[in-house]
Amino acid sequence: MPISMGMPIRTLAHLSDLHLDLSPQSDASARALVEALQAEAVDHVVVTGDLTHQGGHGEYHRFRDIFAPLLDTGRLTFIPGNHDRPGDDAGCAWMEGNKVRTVETPGLFLVCVDSTGAHNRNYFASHGALSHAELDAVDAALEAAPRGALAAVLVHHHVLPLPEESFPERLATLLGWPHAAELPLGAEWLTRLQGRCDLVLHGHRHVPRERVLEGAGGRPLRIYNAGSSTELGRFRMFRHSAGRLQGEPSWCRSSVPEQPRTAGHNVRPALQYLVAQIGIALF
Ligand SMILES: [Fe+2]
Repeated sequence: MPISMGMPIRTLAHLSDLHLDLSPQSDASARALVEALQAEAVDHVVVTGDLTHQGGHGEYHRFRDIFAPLLDTGRLTFIPGNHDRPGDDAGCAWMEGNKVRTVETPGLFLVCVDSTGAHNRNYFASHGALSHAELDAVDAALEAAPRGALAAVLVHHHVLPLPEESFPERLATLLGWPHAAELPLGAEWLTRLQGRCDLVLHGHRHVPRERVLEGAGGRPLRIYNAGSSTELGRFRMFRHSAGRLQGEPSWCRSSVPEQPRTAGHNVRPALQYLVAQIGIALF
Protein backbone atom coordinates (compact mmCIF):
# COMPACT_ATOMS: atom_id res chain seq x y z
CA MET A 1 0.00 0.00 0.00
CA PRO A 2 1.67 3.27 -1.13
CA ILE A 3 1.93 6.18 1.31
CA SER A 4 1.13 9.77 0.26
CA MET A 5 1.60 12.79 2.57
CA GLY A 6 1.59 10.44 5.56
CA MET A 7 -1.72 8.80 4.61
CA PRO A 8 -1.92 5.41 2.92
CA ILE A 9 -3.43 5.21 -0.57
CA ARG A 10 -5.91 2.35 -0.68
CA THR A 11 -7.58 0.67 -3.62
CA LEU A 12 -11.19 -0.35 -4.23
CA ALA A 13 -12.20 -2.54 -7.17
CA HIS A 14 -15.76 -2.60 -8.52
CA LEU A 15 -17.13 -5.69 -10.26
CA SER A 16 -20.70 -6.57 -11.18
CA ASP A 17 -22.96 -8.89 -13.14
CA LEU A 18 -20.74 -11.97 -13.14
CA HIS A 19 -23.71 -14.17 -14.16
CA LEU A 20 -21.88 -17.34 -13.13
CA ASP A 21 -23.72 -20.21 -14.79
CA LEU A 22 -21.41 -23.18 -14.01
CA SER A 23 -20.11 -23.21 -17.61
CA PRO A 24 -16.35 -23.54 -18.20
CA GLN A 25 -16.40 -20.11 -19.87
CA SER A 26 -17.92 -18.25 -16.93
CA ASP A 27 -15.63 -20.12 -14.49
CA ALA A 28 -12.57 -19.14 -16.54
CA SER A 29 -13.64 -15.48 -16.77
CA ALA A 30 -14.25 -15.27 -13.03
CA ARG A 31 -10.98 -17.01 -12.14
CA ALA A 32 -9.07 -14.62 -14.41
CA LEU A 33 -10.70 -11.64 -12.69
CA VAL A 34 -9.67 -12.96 -9.27
CA GLU A 35 -6.10 -13.48 -10.52
CA ALA A 36 -6.02 -9.87 -11.77
CA LEU A 37 -7.41 -8.60 -8.44
CA GLN A 38 -4.73 -10.52 -6.56
CA ALA A 39 -2.00 -9.31 -8.92
CA GLU A 40 -3.07 -5.72 -8.17
CA ALA A 41 -3.13 -6.51 -4.43
CA VAL A 42 -6.46 -4.68 -4.22
CA ASP A 43 -7.40 -3.63 -0.68
CA HIS A 44 -11.15 -4.20 -1.09
CA VAL A 45 -13.50 -5.51 -3.79
CA VAL A 46 -17.23 -4.94 -4.22
CA VAL A 47 -19.54 -6.96 -6.48
CA THR A 48 -22.86 -5.21 -7.10
CA GLY A 49 -25.21 -8.10 -7.81
CA ASP A 50 -26.09 -10.73 -10.39
CA LEU A 51 -23.28 -12.94 -9.11
CA THR A 52 -25.31 -15.91 -10.35
CA HIS A 53 -27.24 -16.33 -13.59
CA GLN A 54 -30.29 -18.18 -12.26
CA GLY A 55 -30.11 -17.71 -8.50
CA GLY A 56 -28.93 -21.30 -8.01
CA HIS A 57 -27.21 -22.49 -4.84
CA GLY A 58 -24.70 -24.32 -7.06
CA GLU A 59 -23.87 -21.08 -8.88
CA TYR A 60 -23.42 -19.26 -5.56
CA HIS A 61 -21.16 -22.01 -4.22
CA ARG A 62 -19.08 -21.68 -7.40
CA PHE A 63 -18.78 -17.93 -6.71
CA ARG A 64 -17.61 -18.60 -3.14
CA ASP A 65 -15.11 -21.15 -4.40
CA ILE A 66 -13.61 -18.91 -7.09
CA PHE A 67 -13.55 -15.76 -4.93
CA ALA A 68 -12.32 -17.60 -1.80
CA PRO A 69 -8.91 -15.82 -1.77
CA LEU A 70 -10.75 -12.49 -1.33
CA LEU A 71 -13.59 -13.77 0.87
CA ASP A 72 -11.23 -15.59 3.23
CA THR A 73 -9.21 -12.42 3.80
CA GLY A 74 -12.27 -10.20 4.43
CA ARG A 75 -11.66 -8.16 1.29
CA LEU A 76 -14.94 -8.77 -0.55
CA THR A 77 -18.40 -7.24 -0.13
CA PHE A 78 -21.34 -8.23 -2.33
CA ILE A 79 -25.06 -7.54 -2.66
CA PRO A 80 -27.85 -9.36 -4.54
CA GLY A 81 -29.20 -8.54 -8.01
CA ASN A 82 -32.39 -9.66 -9.72
CA HIS A 83 -30.69 -12.72 -11.28
CA ASP A 84 -29.83 -13.94 -7.77
CA ARG A 85 -33.55 -14.20 -6.81
CA PRO A 86 -35.21 -16.75 -9.20
CA GLY A 87 -34.46 -20.47 -9.02
CA ASP A 88 -33.19 -21.33 -5.52
CA ASP A 89 -33.34 -17.62 -4.50
CA ALA A 90 -29.68 -17.83 -3.45
CA GLY A 91 -29.47 -14.05 -3.01
CA CYS A 92 -32.34 -13.87 -0.50
CA ALA A 93 -30.07 -14.51 2.49
CA TRP A 94 -27.10 -12.33 1.55
CA MET A 95 -28.34 -9.19 3.34
CA GLU A 96 -29.37 -11.19 6.44
CA GLY A 97 -32.93 -9.87 6.23
CA ASN A 98 -31.91 -6.20 5.89
CA LYS A 99 -32.60 -3.90 2.96
CA VAL A 100 -29.76 -1.62 4.08
CA ARG A 101 -26.62 -2.53 6.00
CA THR A 102 -23.15 -1.06 6.38
CA VAL A 103 -19.65 -2.47 6.07
CA GLU A 104 -16.56 -0.69 7.38
CA THR A 105 -13.05 -1.46 6.23
CA PRO A 106 -9.94 0.69 6.68
CA GLY A 107 -10.57 4.01 4.91
CA LEU A 108 -13.90 2.88 3.50
CA PHE A 109 -17.57 3.08 4.57
CA LEU A 110 -19.93 0.99 2.43
CA VAL A 111 -23.71 1.28 2.51
CA CYS A 112 -25.08 -1.91 0.96
CA VAL A 113 -28.60 -1.55 -0.45
CA ASP A 114 -30.80 -4.42 -1.62
CA SER A 115 -32.85 -3.12 -4.58
CA THR A 116 -34.29 -6.55 -5.36
CA GLY A 117 -37.70 -7.71 -4.22
CA ALA A 118 -40.06 -10.67 -4.17
CA HIS A 119 -41.19 -9.68 -7.68
CA ASN A 120 -37.72 -10.71 -8.94
CA ARG A 121 -38.65 -14.35 -8.19
CA ASN A 122 -40.32 -14.01 -11.59
CA TYR A 123 -37.43 -14.27 -14.07
CA PHE A 124 -39.00 -11.65 -16.35
CA ALA A 125 -39.64 -9.00 -13.68
CA SER A 126 -36.05 -7.78 -13.58
CA HIS A 127 -36.60 -4.21 -12.36
CA GLY A 128 -35.58 -2.91 -8.95
CA ALA A 129 -37.62 -1.41 -6.14
CA LEU A 130 -36.79 0.91 -3.25
CA SER A 131 -39.16 2.70 -0.87
CA HIS A 132 -38.89 6.06 0.86
CA ALA A 133 -38.33 4.17 4.13
CA GLU A 134 -35.28 2.53 2.58
CA LEU A 135 -33.93 5.88 1.37
CA ASP A 136 -34.39 7.13 4.95
CA ALA A 137 -32.40 4.12 6.18
CA VAL A 138 -29.57 4.99 3.77
CA ASP A 139 -29.60 8.58 5.08
CA ALA A 140 -29.37 7.29 8.64
CA ALA A 141 -26.55 4.91 7.72
CA LEU A 142 -24.54 7.73 6.12
CA GLU A 143 -24.86 9.75 9.32
CA ALA A 144 -22.59 7.17 10.92
CA ALA A 145 -19.89 7.41 8.24
CA PRO A 146 -16.60 8.27 9.93
CA ARG A 147 -14.75 11.39 8.85
CA GLY A 148 -11.80 10.49 6.71
CA ALA A 149 -13.50 7.47 5.12
CA LEU A 150 -14.62 7.25 1.52
CA ALA A 151 -18.41 6.70 1.54
CA ALA A 152 -19.84 4.47 -1.19
CA VAL A 153 -23.40 3.23 -1.75
CA LEU A 154 -23.66 -0.19 -3.38
CA VAL A 155 -26.87 -1.03 -5.23
CA HIS A 156 -27.62 -3.39 -8.10
CA HIS A 157 -30.13 -1.49 -10.25
CA HIS A 158 -29.36 1.70 -12.14
CA VAL A 159 -30.42 4.95 -10.52
CA LEU A 160 -30.59 7.14 -13.63
CA PRO A 161 -32.10 6.38 -17.05
CA LEU A 162 -29.65 4.47 -19.27
CA PRO A 163 -29.97 3.44 -22.93
CA GLU A 164 -31.62 0.04 -23.48
CA GLU A 165 -29.16 -2.67 -24.47
CA SER A 166 -31.38 -5.41 -25.89
CA PHE A 167 -34.59 -5.96 -27.84
CA PRO A 168 -36.58 -7.12 -24.77
CA GLU A 169 -35.52 -3.94 -22.91
CA ARG A 170 -36.54 -1.74 -25.86
CA LEU A 171 -39.87 -3.57 -26.13
CA ALA A 172 -40.57 -3.23 -22.39
CA THR A 173 -39.91 0.52 -22.51
CA LEU A 174 -42.05 0.88 -25.63
CA LEU A 175 -44.94 -0.86 -23.88
CA GLY A 176 -44.53 1.29 -20.77
CA TRP A 177 -43.54 -1.67 -18.57
CA PRO A 178 -41.16 -1.06 -15.64
CA HIS A 179 -38.81 -3.97 -16.48
CA ALA A 180 -36.00 -1.93 -18.10
CA ALA A 181 -36.52 1.33 -16.20
CA GLU A 182 -34.24 2.89 -13.62
CA LEU A 183 -35.15 2.76 -9.91
CA PRO A 184 -38.41 4.72 -9.56
CA LEU A 185 -36.98 6.94 -6.79
CA GLY A 186 -33.52 7.11 -8.37
CA ALA A 187 -33.41 10.84 -9.16
CA GLU A 188 -34.77 11.81 -5.73
CA TRP A 189 -32.31 9.46 -4.07
CA LEU A 190 -29.33 11.04 -5.82
CA THR A 191 -30.47 14.50 -4.72
CA ARG A 192 -30.49 13.21 -1.15
CA LEU A 193 -27.04 11.65 -1.51
CA GLN A 194 -25.31 14.69 -3.03
CA GLY A 195 -22.76 16.17 -0.65
CA ARG A 196 -23.08 13.23 1.78
CA CYS A 197 -21.53 10.41 -0.18
CA ASP A 198 -18.70 9.96 -2.70
CA LEU A 199 -19.66 7.00 -4.85
CA VAL A 200 -22.74 5.16 -6.06
CA LEU A 201 -21.62 1.82 -7.51
CA HIS A 202 -24.12 -0.27 -9.44
CA GLY A 203 -24.53 -2.81 -12.21
CA HIS A 204 -27.56 -4.43 -13.88
CA ARG A 205 -26.87 -2.91 -17.30
CA HIS A 206 -23.89 -4.61 -18.97
CA VAL A 207 -22.34 -1.57 -20.69
CA PRO A 208 -20.19 0.50 -18.30
CA ARG A 209 -21.30 4.08 -17.66
CA GLU A 210 -20.28 6.94 -15.43
CA ARG A 211 -21.74 10.25 -14.35
CA VAL A 212 -20.54 12.97 -12.00
CA LEU A 213 -22.97 15.20 -10.08
CA GLU A 214 -21.83 18.24 -8.17
CA GLY A 215 -22.35 18.04 -4.44
CA ALA A 216 -22.60 20.46 -1.56
CA GLY A 217 -19.29 21.59 -0.07
CA GLY A 218 -17.30 20.65 -3.16
CA ARG A 219 -17.96 16.93 -2.61
CA PRO A 220 -18.98 15.49 -5.98
CA LEU A 221 -21.15 12.38 -6.21
CA ARG A 222 -19.76 9.93 -8.76
CA ILE A 223 -22.04 7.24 -10.18
CA TYR A 224 -20.46 4.22 -11.87
CA ASN A 225 -21.99 1.24 -13.62
CA ALA A 226 -19.38 -1.55 -13.70
CA GLY A 227 -21.07 -3.41 -16.56
CA SER A 228 -20.68 -7.20 -16.70
CA SER A 229 -17.14 -7.85 -15.46
CA THR A 230 -17.00 -11.42 -16.78
CA GLU A 231 -18.22 -10.27 -20.20
CA LEU A 232 -15.80 -7.31 -20.30
CA GLY A 233 -12.80 -9.10 -18.77
CA ARG A 234 -11.98 -5.92 -16.84
CA PHE A 235 -12.94 -3.88 -13.79
CA ARG A 236 -12.53 -0.34 -12.50
CA MET A 237 -10.12 0.35 -9.68
CA PHE A 238 -10.41 3.45 -7.50
CA ARG A 239 -7.58 4.90 -5.43
CA HIS A 240 -8.49 6.79 -2.29
CA SER A 241 -6.82 8.35 0.70
CA ALA A 242 -8.20 10.13 3.76
CA GLY A 243 -11.74 9.90 2.37
CA ARG A 244 -10.87 11.42 -1.00
CA LEU A 245 -10.60 9.79 -4.39
CA GLN A 246 -7.15 10.08 -5.88
CA GLY A 247 -7.66 10.90 -9.55
CA GLU A 248 -9.87 9.02 -11.99
CA PRO A 249 -10.43 5.26 -11.67
CA SER A 250 -8.39 3.03 -13.93
CA TRP A 251 -9.50 -0.09 -15.82
CA CYS A 252 -7.65 -3.32 -14.96
CA ARG A 253 -7.76 -6.13 -17.49
CA SER A 254 -7.86 -9.86 -16.79
CA SER A 255 -6.13 -12.43 -18.98
CA VAL A 256 -9.47 -13.40 -20.60
CA PRO A 257 -10.44 -11.04 -23.43
CA GLU A 258 -13.84 -9.39 -23.78
CA GLN A 259 -16.44 -11.97 -24.84
CA PRO A 260 -19.90 -10.56 -25.57
CA ARG A 261 -22.65 -12.98 -24.58
CA THR A 262 -25.23 -14.08 -27.12
CA ALA A 263 -28.99 -13.69 -26.63
CA GLY A 264 -29.09 -17.45 -25.91
CA HIS A 265 -27.54 -16.82 -22.50
CA ASN A 266 -30.85 -15.31 -21.39
CA VAL A 267 -33.21 -17.30 -23.61
CA ARG A 268 -32.32 -20.68 -22.07
CA PRO A 269 -33.10 -19.73 -18.42
CA ALA A 270 -36.21 -17.86 -19.58
CA LEU A 271 -37.51 -21.03 -21.25
CA GLN A 272 -36.60 -23.10 -18.17
CA TYR A 273 -38.52 -20.63 -16.01
CA LEU A 274 -41.58 -20.82 -18.28
CA VAL A 275 -41.54 -24.63 -18.30
CA ALA A 276 -41.29 -24.68 -14.49
CA GLN A 277 -44.22 -22.26 -14.16
CA ILE A 278 -46.36 -24.32 -16.54
CA GLY A 279 -45.47 -27.41 -14.50
CA ILE A 280 -46.56 -25.69 -11.27
CA ALA A 281 -49.82 -24.52 -12.89
CA LEU A 282 -50.66 -28.01 -14.21
CA PHE A 283 -49.64 -30.13 -11.23
FE1 LIG B 1 -29.54 -7.38 -13.08
